[in-house]
Amino acid sequence: AFQTLDDLADGQRVLVRLDLNSPVEDGAVQDNRRFERHAKTVRELADRGFETVLMAHQGRPGRDTFVSLEQHADILSGHIGTDVDFVADTFGEDALAAIDDLGGGDVLLLENTRMCDEELPEEDPEVKAETEFVRTLAPEFDAYVNDAYSAAHRSHASLVGFPLVLPAYAGRVMETEYEANTAIAQKEFDGQVTMAVGGTKATDVIDVMDHLGDTVDDFLLGGIAGELFLRADGAPVGFDLDPDLDLYDSQWADNHELIERILEENREKITLATDMAYADEDGDRAETNVADIDEKTVSFMDVGSDTAEGYADVIRDSEAVFVKGALGVFEEERFSVGTVSVLEAIAETDCFSVVGGGDTSRAIEMYGMSEDDFGHVSIAGGAYIRALTGASLIGVEVLQRED
Ligand code: 3PG
Repeated sequence: AFQTLDDLADGQRVLVRLDLNSPVEDGAVQDNRRFERHAKTVRELADRGFETVLMAHQGRPGRDTFVSLEQHADILSGHIGTDVDFVADTFGEDALAAIDDLGGGDVLLLENTRMCDEELPEEDPEVKAETEFVRTLAPEFDAYVNDAYSAAHRSHASLVGFPLVLPAYAGRVMETEYEANTAIAQKEFDGQVTMAVGGTKATDVIDVMDHLGDTVDDFLLGGIAGELFLRADGAPVGFDLDPDLDLYDSQWADNHELIERILEENREKITLATDMAYADEDGDRAETNVADIDEKTVSFMDVGSDTAEGYADVIRDSEAVFVKGALGVFEEERFSVGTVSVLEAIAETDCFSVVGGGDTSRAIEMYGMSEDDFGHVSIAGGAYIRALTGASLIGVEVLQRED
């Protein structure tokens, strides 16, 4: 267990790690549910009179998404309803001066942690605790709060260094994400446990299925991974028609033995699509039964309507439903049937549910569903996958350390 904001005495100066890593389009940072969620933690700290200093990262060095956090401060201000000051410095003189100027209830965001050389190399927490970055900032604070569950699989200075040298607490997002995302391993469910798995990365799906084979009663497959399982089952789907678009073949080459093994070992638990959707010559949705596909002539974009209905029926009979990855290219409405049917069935049903993967959860907003109808919609990507495969997260581990 970790200490939470309930254990933190009011009115101190706290250093808080958020995960505001966001899509960036033409240099513009895109608002997303990470801001909304973290705003809750920050608002609580401001209301309780803390001097609150925020750290977060954006992108990776060398990529277009590696930008300053200046825009993040504005977007976050909008969600909190109070000013978030920004200083374009991580732990230098400007940062220290801005920290010094704070009063109770003030909120300050420091520059992108990944602009600090000591942040990134994955090293042990003990090594990170010795960096200049940590040694310079830590003495300015009474406590450290980690709210960045979705980055907690990274052994970076801002995530694992500070908890070793400051009293450390979990923020509200950390608390709720941790609880929901580890529920599949920690909770007992009396009824059926179902997991809808899809998305584009086959290895994620395979790792999750391999780990949860004993826990999950029914895996409903879609997406690229679903097609690779169909291919392992002998259907002529899951091939690249355009070799320049390497979506299937190299993933197949790397993973087919594991896929075949999982299919063989867990056959009775795995439900594969029986029909598939594609774009006809006019670009409209067309469908075919998997049994009728005898040539590799089209690219599939979604599971078919019968499959989607069947999956929704399974979900309605479930006690717990977990979603990892979309079942089709839901960004295009005509190929959203699989993903939306699964999500709508969860929303209508009184089951325990966790929906994860940044992309999949976007479908909830896009198709007018309400987050309130789901048990938990995770804002984590890689960390969610790790939680589902039973891996511990180093950032969580250091928070749980007794001393
Ligand atoms: C995320 O966006 O999933 C986290 O912030 C981690 O980002 P990273 O994969 O660049 O470390």
